[in-house]
Order: sequence, then C-alpha cells, then structure tokens
Amino acid sequence: MNIALFASGTGSNVKNIIDFFKKNKTINIVLVVSNNSSAGALIHAKNNNIHQLVIDKESLSDTKSVLEKLREKNIELVVLAGFLLKIPEKFITNYKGKIINLHPSLLPKFGGKGMYGNNVHKAVLESNETKTGITIHYVNKNYDEGTIIKQYETKLSKKETIESIALKIKNLEKLYFPVTIEELILKSY
Ligand code: GAR
Repeated sequence: MNIALFASGTGSNVKNIIDFFKKNKTINIVLVVSNNSSAGALIHAKNNNIHQLVIDKESLSDTKSVLEKLREKNIELVVLAGFLLKIPEKFITNYKGKIINLHPSLLPKFGGKGMYGNNVHKAVLESNETKTGITIHYVNKNYDEGTIIKQYETKLSKKETIESIALKIKNLEKLYFPVTIEELILKSY
C-alpha cells in the first residue's frame, strides 16, 4: 500500500505519519506533494528519502501531471495533512474514496473555505465552545463535507487561548491521525 501525503505548511503531521509508518513493511509513504516549495513537509520528506513533488494551483486544477505522478508511484491512498488548496473534481473522480483529509475541528462545525489552522481555533474560541477536536474524513467536491471516518474530542476551559487550543489539537493529531490511517487501510484494503 503506497501513500502520498499532500501538505502546505510546517508539516508536523507529515513528520508524525512518516515516523509512524517507518518500520511498517506493507504501508509505505512514497511521495510528499506540496504547493509550497518552502514547506517544512518537504524537508521531512527529504530527510527520510521520500520523493517530493512541488505543484502549483494550475497543475493541480489541470490534474494530468499530478495524476501521472501518482500512478507512476502506484499511489492507492492520498492523505491531505494540512493541504490548503481545493482538490478538483477531476482528481476526486480518479481517486474515488481514496482521498482523506484531516481537519482541526469537530465537523460540521468550523469547516469550509478559509477554515484552516489558527482561523479554526480563533472561531472556536470566539464561539465559547466547551470542546473541540479533530475530524478525519473522506474528501468530496465541497470543502470539509465528505463522509466522516473518525472524530476525537478535547475539552476546553474558560481560560483557553488560540495557542492553547492549537496545542491541544496538535496533541490529538499526533496521537490519532497516523493510527486512524492504519486502521482505515487494514479495514478497507
Ligand atoms: C493541522 O492542524 C491540520 O489539522 C490543519 O492544518 C494543520 C497543518 O499542520 N488542516 C486544516 O486546517 C485543513 N482545513 P502541520 O503542517 O503542522 O501538519
């Protein structure tokens, strides 16, 4: 089972996933794709001798060259780990049921366009939520609306800040995202 990770930012999740599957003989992280040539995610890939691909918005929406690369690497599962760009419908059709995303809130709350990273935590804080969490879900043509695979929660106190919420979310992501990917593969493939 070959996996491609798509990421736009610092790539803490990319690092967690690479580390988690390092010794796994059947599940391999073989490609890291980013729309940001200075993304930390690419550095984690390089440090682990994993192939890297930098794409731009145009090549993603055209999809041809990206799909060719995924096929060349026999990618069976695409994992979005902090990937900012919208996945085009053409791409979804070609990888039906094989693209999953991590979102840093309990969807359907605080999802949609522009809901990324600290924007999500700020909205959670301003809404005086008593809990937040992470959602791992399939990707469909609308932002953050695909079928939910798993959700994990954390309680919020009255003293939270954007930073404290971000830390709680990072901890949940580290604990649960890689293991949820593994469970999903073992169950469905
Ligand atoms: C993660 O918290 C992920 O949940 C979030 O981006 C962050 C990336 O962090 N994803 C979204 O907000 C998707 N809408 P990382 O680069 O350190 O892995």
